[in-house]
Amino acid sequence: MSIIIFLVFLLCCTSSVLSTKDDEIALLKIKKQLGDPYGLGWWVKGFDYCNRSANVAPDYSDITCTSTGRVESLILKNLNVTKPFPDGICSLTEMDYLEIYKIPVLYGPIPSCFTKLYNLVSLYITYTSLSGAVPDFSGRIKPSNLTFINLSQNQFSGTIPSSFGSLPKLYYLDLSFNRLTGTIPPALLSTSSSSLELANNNLTGEIPKCYGAVNFSVFIVRGNRLNGDPSFLFRKQQTAGNIELAHNDFKFDLSNVEFSDNLWGFDISHNKIYGRVPNSFATAAHLRYPNLSFNRLCGELPQGGNMGQFDAAIFANNACLCGYPLQPCSNSAPAPAPAPAFRPPF
Ligand SMILES: *[C@@H]1O[C@H](CO)[C@@H](O)[C@H](O)[C@H]1NC(C)=O
Ligand SMILES: *[C@@H]1O[C@H](CO)[C@@H](O)[C@H](O)[C@H]1NC(C)=O
Ligand SMILES: *[C@@H]1O[C@H](CO)[C@@H](O)[C@H](O)[C@H]1NC(C)=O
Ligand SMILES: *[C@@H]1O[C@H](CO)[C@@H](O)[C@H](O)[C@H]1NC(C)=O
Ligand SMILES: *[C@@H]1O[C@H](CO)[C@@H](O)[C@H](O)[C@H]1NC(C)=O
Ligand SMILES: *[C@@H]1O[C@H](CO)[C@@H](O)[C@H](O)[C@H]1NC(C)=O
Ligand SMILES: *[C@@H]1O[C@H](CO)[C@@H](O)[C@H](O)[C@H]1NC(C)=O
Repeated sequence: MSIIIFLVFLLCCTSSVLSTKDDEIALLKIKKQLGDPYGLGWWVKGFDYCNRSANVAPDYSDITCTSTGRVESLILKNLNVTKPFPDGICSLTEMDYLEIYKIPVLYGPIPSCFTKLYNLVSLYITYTSLSGAVPDFSGRIKPSNLTFINLSQNQFSGTIPSSFGSLPKLYYLDLSFNRLTGTIPPALLSTSSSSLELANNNLTGEIPKCYGAVNFSVFIVRGNRLNGDPSFLFRKQQTAGNIELAHNDFKFDLSNVEFSDNLWGFDISHNKIYGRVPNSFATAAHLRYPNLSFNRLCGELPQGGNMGQFDAAIFANNACLCGYPLQPCSNSAPAPAPAPAFRPPF
């Protein structure tokens, strides 16, 4: 008798059984909030959402589970719905991976309950019409294992929350193609091989100096309204492979910049950068995709090394650059003064 009571207890009262049921309720709520779209048809009462081979519509959704049957990852994609963000998602508290991809008319803000998802490791929301503020993880309970955030290609506005900087493992942050304004907060990322991508927003001000000390793998801020002198990003030991500063209002002297051997991509086009192209541009071991066009550079290009593989177009529209692959420098161009010729005594 007591064994039967124990079994009944096991069946209905342990937290994993209850939570599994809760996750089913949450998933069915999400489906309803999305207007019961084609693609989530297999989400029905009592469905075995942990069984991936039962998923008949993997082009639209995918779910994986923890060993206790809680939702561990959720993918929602390619859904044709015109709905606000389904807050049923906030109840999937064991989830470590959330991906919302190509739901073009998912609109409105991400609700504040979203920050309850403190088990998140990867957050990927791209190609939606979500707007309002990007999630601010400044609460007391943080998703302290959050390492990867990609919120690019949405319509988020407002400023970048400095609370991203309080996520100790965050190393990949992509907020490109939104409508973010304000300045770039300092110390958003601090681990090595960090990737910071903030392209095509409306960010202003200078890049905080502290980023000069970060070992980036990628640093992309193209297409904003940033200004100042970010040349501290370039140092011989810089680990970044790709640095893109194009289409901003940066103004600095390129003459003394040291190109690291790790750099393969370097786009500074459409700024107000002046000075000469330094020799390390020609000798940087991996430089393949530079673009210096539409700046105010001047003087003779360095020769040898990489220079043979670069097209003249990447130097176009500068103040007065010359030398291969551009026109040869005329005598009046700033070039090393020729050694005084021997004049025979007359
Ligand atoms: C998972 O779903 C498939 C397809 O519906 C089914 O054949 C299989 O028995 C299910 N596995 C479990 C463990 O329920
Ligand atoms: C999306 O749904 C709307 C309304 O149901 C429909 O008119 C439209 O053709 C659908 N678009 C696509 C790409 O399926
Ligand atoms: C973070 O990961 C560690 C190790 O996997 C785990 O023990 C811990 O519970 C996780 N913390 C959160 C908030 O998910
Ligand atoms: C971030 O999302 C955008 C849009 O889906 C994509 O182009 C980009 O490659 C993503 N970055 C990574 C590292 O997944
Ligand atoms: C940036 O701001 C300008 C001026 O306020 C506005 O015209 C433009 O549409 C904005 N761009 C983006 C990507 O939000
Ligand atoms: C950055 O990389 C350099 C060279 O690889 C290394 O000496 C330094 O400790 C790294 N710094 C950080 C903060 O990881
Ligand atoms: C260089 O930048 C200019 C201006 O942004 C652009 O038009 C051109 O296509 C770029 N060239 C290459 C090779 O990336």
